Amino acid sequence: MKKIENINELTQYIEILKQKGKTIGLVPTMGALHAGHMSLIKRAREENDIVVSSVFVNPIQFNNKEDLEKYPRNLEKDSQLLEENGCDIMFSPNAQEVYKDEPTEQFSFGSLEAVMEGKQRPGHFNGVAIIVSRLFNWVNPNRAYFGEKDFQQIAIIRDMVRQLNSQVEIVPCPIVREEDGLALSSRNARLSQKAREIAPKIHFILQKSATMKDSLSFSQIKTFVVNEFKLIKDFELEYFEIVDDTTLQPISKKGDNGVVGCIAIWLDGVRLIDVQRYY
Ligand code: PAJ
Repeated sequence: MKKIENINELTQYIEILKQKGKTIGLVPTMGALHAGHMSLIKRAREENDIVVSSVFVNPIQFNNKEDLEKYPRNLEKDSQLLEENGCDIMFSPNAQEVYKDEPTEQFSFGSLEAVMEGKQRPGHFNGVAIIVSRLFNWVNPNRAYFGEKDFQQIAIIRDMVRQLNSQVEIVPCPIVREEDGLALSSRNARLSQKAREIAPKIHFILQKSATMKDSLSFSQIKTFVVNEFKLIKDFELEYFEIVDDTTLQPISKKGDNGVVGCIAIWLDGVRLIDVQRYY
């Protein structure tokens, strides 16, 4: 696996690969890699000649300084995992080079960012779109891989691709979970042992709520979920919304599109997110 930190070195290397007609799959990450990230790498490996993964803790998408400071970093282990899983290029630039000039790009995602993560974390998706659009420019990938755990992020990236008339194909990948159901996340490492034992309840409660979809309305399902988490005092629910899987707007009745429930919840000072499909 080739390790590149410098942006010019990357673009020159990519240029040569492109001249040779190679297809490129990009997996953008912020490191602290786990089996969830590796599922994206494996999928990219199957579908492209060359797999590039970026490892960059993007400061401008954090709206909480403490979260940025506490974000786990382990480049040695990340590089080992990437290599073992067939990644060809690890790109890990430093923030001084990526943001040597103050970023001025201003994306607007309208109603897509007015809800859930976008509503709770002002500026977050602009920061995501800035780094992902720059990565797309530097890597010029045929395909880019994103996990459905960050459901809204995928909708935002798709809209960004549309706005930029980019040809990159966005490939959504299913959530990878621990055996007990907890969605893998770099932040899970920050949970105390007790919190880690309670954390699988998130998936359990959401799954249970999905079994009720034929007998309850979405508004009743939402009430059920909210009440279940109220009963477990360790949890502090930030939001739970049942939304159209394309527009991301909260819905009360199923329309033509799929339906997902998206949750952000605090446990032990750690913010966890998850997604449940209803239709
Ligand atoms: P990060 O949180 O490191 O996630 C990188 C990619 O891995 C995202 O597409 C995310 O959805 C996916 N992923 C994380 N946990 C997963 C799981 N349990 N199952 C499947 N996929 C999972 O998302 C980001 O970084 C950043 O916002 C980024 C896109 C890199 C821009 O900075």
